[in-house]
Amino acid sequence: MKRILFILACAACVSAHGQKFEQLDLTPQMGWNSWHKFQCDVNEELIREIADAMATNGMKDAGYQYVNIDDCWQGQRDAQGFIQPDPKRFPSGMKALADYVHSKGLKFGIYSDAGAKTCGGKPASRGHEYQDALTYAQWGVDYLKYDWCGCEDLKAQGAYTTMRDALHAAGRPVVFSMCEWGDNKPWLWAKDVGNSWRTTTDITPCFDCNVDHKTWHQWGVLQILDAQKPLREYAGPGHWNDPDMLEVGNGMTVSEDRAHFSMWCMLAAPLISGNDLRSMSKETLEILANKEVIAVNQDALGVEAFEHSGKDGVEVWFKPLSNDSWAMCVLNRNIEAKQISIDWKNEKVTDNFSKRDTHFDTATYSLRNLWLKADAGDTGKILNAEVPGHDVLMFRLDKI
Ligand code: GLA
Repeated sequence: MKRILFILACAACVSAHGQKFEQLDLTPQMGWNSWHKFQCDVNEELIREIADAMATNGMKDAGYQYVNIDDCWQGQRDAQGFIQPDPKRFPSGMKALADYVHSKGLKFGIYSDAGAKTCGGKPASRGHEYQDALTYAQWGVDYLKYDWCGCEDLKAQGAYTTMRDALHAAGRPVVFSMCEWGDNKPWLWAKDVGNSWRTTTDITPCFDCNVDHKTWHQWGVLQILDAQKPLREYAGPGHWNDPDMLEVGNGMTVSEDRAHFSMWCMLAAPLISGNDLRSMSKETLEILANKEVIAVNQDALGVEAFEHSGKDGVEVWFKPLSNDSWAMCVLNRNIEAKQISIDWKNEKVTDNFSKRDTHFDTATYSLRNLWLKADAGDTGKILNAEVPGHDVLMFRLDKI
């Protein structure tokens, strides 16, 4: 009898600890985050207005769900140690704000850090993990981005596992977005800890640059893209590589924004927009809300693209999709336009990871140009095209 009780008790303890929420984030998470555009200048009015915009401007319809507040929402802890939002910026409190976001059919996300203070110097979760997770559950939080500032004396796997267990014990399903910048190779250990993990340092709205801040640096789109190449086999449904949030609409050219968005879709990356959704241009919205391109990102197979060939700064990437389909993206890293010519029957496209092969020699695929939203013939004919500088051509290939 004692033994049976022990086994039952252990089963209960395993279900309360030692796992993440299953069946969550099975396709890459889609939403918005305040950091890129607003940094610490966040308040409840802004968040409500962003939720209003997302719900009505086509973003929600295209699949965006999460409205996430990044750093600097925090006030102080109360006498019992419970975290409070900044009373000037969030006078109505987080529960009311989460209720508002939910009333728009959207989900609500928040940010903390595994250390004592966030990167912005606000109170963070170290030593308060279970208390914070309970608070978030009471507020109605659906998404937690968990940062890594001030954690020099912590081990990442332990620190992130503690917060995972705290969230799970609190009982409300929360997408757990790990943000330790790839410093501890989370792709090797975090599959059962988080739903996504940052793979690099912070992005900046620049296509091809490395910005040196002395103690840290920021990378442009191409620098981040190149760091993803060895990581594709570690991602899959519920556990994604995160090459950082989108900079679409934050200052790059339309071509660069299109290339950035396309490659993040090819990488099955989380699509977290970072621009001002209340005032974006038509071109920006057309990029962020292109459903055919988003369908590549959200494909149920959840396999990242790989670089099939690269020459003179022109890279051809392939992403296996469900039902024997493929996405192909031709990325021009150069400033000047380049001509391409693809004779399909001579292309041997094999993915050892997903065990897929296009078999262009025996199979024919229809071609759909995903940015022109137009059919473009099939793989029976040589494809000749021009790719503008810092831009892409993106196709969907469906077997005929
Ligand atoms: C780190 C993260 C960013 C952002 C800031 C907030 O730099 O990587 O994405 O959350 O902290 O302070």
